[in-house]
Amino acid sequence: MDFKNTSDFVSGFWNFWVIGVSLASIVGCGVFLLIQDKAKTSAGNTTGHVWDETLQEYSNPLPNWWRWMFYITVIFGLVYVVLYPGLGNMAGTFGWTMRGQYEDEMKKAEEQYAPKFNQFLKMDIVAVAANPEAKEMGQRLFLTYCAQCHGSDAGGTASFPNLKDGDWLWGGAPDKIKETIVAGRTGVMTPKGTKPDMDGEQVKDVVHYVRSLSGLSSDSIRAQRGKDLYPQACAACHGPDGKGNADAGYPNLTDKVWLYSSQEASMMETVTKGRTNQMPAFGEFLGPAKVHLLTAYVWGLGGGVKAEAKPAAAAAAPEGMSGMAGTEGMAADKK
Ligand code: HEC
Ligand code: HEC
Repeated sequence: MDFKNTSDFVSGFWNFWVIGVSLASIVGCGVFLLIQDKAKTSAGNTTGHVWDETLQEYSNPLPNWWRWMFYITVIFGLVYVVLYPGLGNMAGTFGWTMRGQYEDEMKKAEEQYAPKFNQFLKMDIVAVAANPEAKEMGQRLFLTYCAQCHGSDAGGTASFPNLKDGDWLWGGAPDKIKETIVAGRTGVMTPKGTKPDMDGEQVKDVVHYVRSLSGLSSDSIRAQRGKDLYPQACAACHGPDGKGNADAGYPNLTDKVWLYSSQEASMMETVTKGRTNQMPAFGEFLGPAKVHLLTAYVWGLGGGVKAEAKPAAAAAAPEGMSGMAGTEGMAADKK
C-alpha cells in the first residue's frame, strides 16, 4: 500500500494516530466478541439479577446468527480499509479517491454535454445570442460562474460592472467581450493623492471638474481650477476630453455611468488612493464552447434589450465614442 499524500495532515503523527485508532477499534470489537464467547453462560439459568420484583435475566449465549453478524462486520471493516482509503494517508489497493470519482464524473458529463455546447461554437455570436436554447444555456452558465460578482441580473454593483447597460470599460463588441472572459481584465488607476502628484485640495478640484463633465453638482471655481490640473494628471488615461479608452479599460468619465459611485466621497477616494479591480480569466477553466455561449449571452443583454438605459450614455457622448465600442460600436457590430 502506498502512502500518497491525500490528506491535509500537517505532521506524520496524525497519520499514525488515525491508523492506530481505526485498527484498535476494529480489532478491539473482534477481541471483545471472542471474550464474550468464552464468558461463562449457562442456557436456561438466570444471572441472578432481579428487577421490578419478578423480572429476571436469563444467562443465555448470544444467538449464533447475531454473533456471526458481528464477526462479519469486523472482517468487512478490515477488508474495507485495505481496499479503500481509510487508514490515515493510505490510499487503498483499489486506488479509489473522492477526487478521482469527481473527475471521472466530470469527464463523463463533459462527453455527454460537449456536443450540446459545441453545436453553437461554429455559429456567429449574434446568431447564438438570438437562439433561445443558447440563451437559456448561457444564462445557466452565467448564474453559476458570473452572478456572484456581476449579480444574477448582470446589473453589477460598486466595482463590478453592469453588463447590460451598453456602457463598456473594455468594449462591447463580441470579440472584446470574449477577450474579457477568456483572459480576464485588470483595471488599475494609480493613486494621485500623494506628493508630488496632488494635495487634498487639488484632488477635490479635479474631482469637481470631473463631476462637471457629466452634469453632477460641482463648485464652479473648483471645477475651473481642476480643469487646469486634469490634462497633466488624468488625460493620459481618461483622454483629453474625459471619454476614456476602451482598449485599456480606462472609463469614460462623461457618460453618467459610474463603476463606483457618483458620490463626491467615492470619487475623492478613487483619485486619492487609486483603484485596482480584477476580472478573473475563465478561458482555460470553461473552454471555448462555454465561453462562446457566455459571450453571446452577455452581448445579448447589452445589445439593445435594455434600450432605456442607453440614451443617457449616448446623449453624454454625442460625437460618437472615439475608440469606445459602446452603443454605436455594438450597433455597427450587429450589421
Ligand atoms: C470575482 C468576481 C468576478 C467574476 C466571478 C466575474 N467577473 Fe466579470 N468582471 C469583474 C470585475 C471586477 C470587472 C471589471 C474589471 C475592470 O475594472 O476593469 C469585470 C468585467 C467584466 C466584463 C467587462 C465589462 C466592461 O464594461 O467592459 C465582462 C464582459 C465580464 N466581466 C463578464 C463576466 C462573465 C461572463 C463572467 C462569468 C464567466 C464574469 N465576468 C465573472 C469581476 C468578476
Ligand atoms: C494610469 C491611468 C489612470 C490615470 C492617470 C487616472 N485614472 Fe482614473 N481610472 C483609471 C482606471 C483604469 C479606472 C477604473 C478602475 C477600475 O477598473 O476599477 C479609473 C477610474 C476612475 C474613476 C471612477 C470611474 C467610475 O466609473 O466610477 C474616476 C472618478 C477617475 N478614475 C478619475 C480620475 C481622475 C480625476 C484622474 C486624474 C487626477 C484620474 N482618474 C487619473 C485609470 C486612470
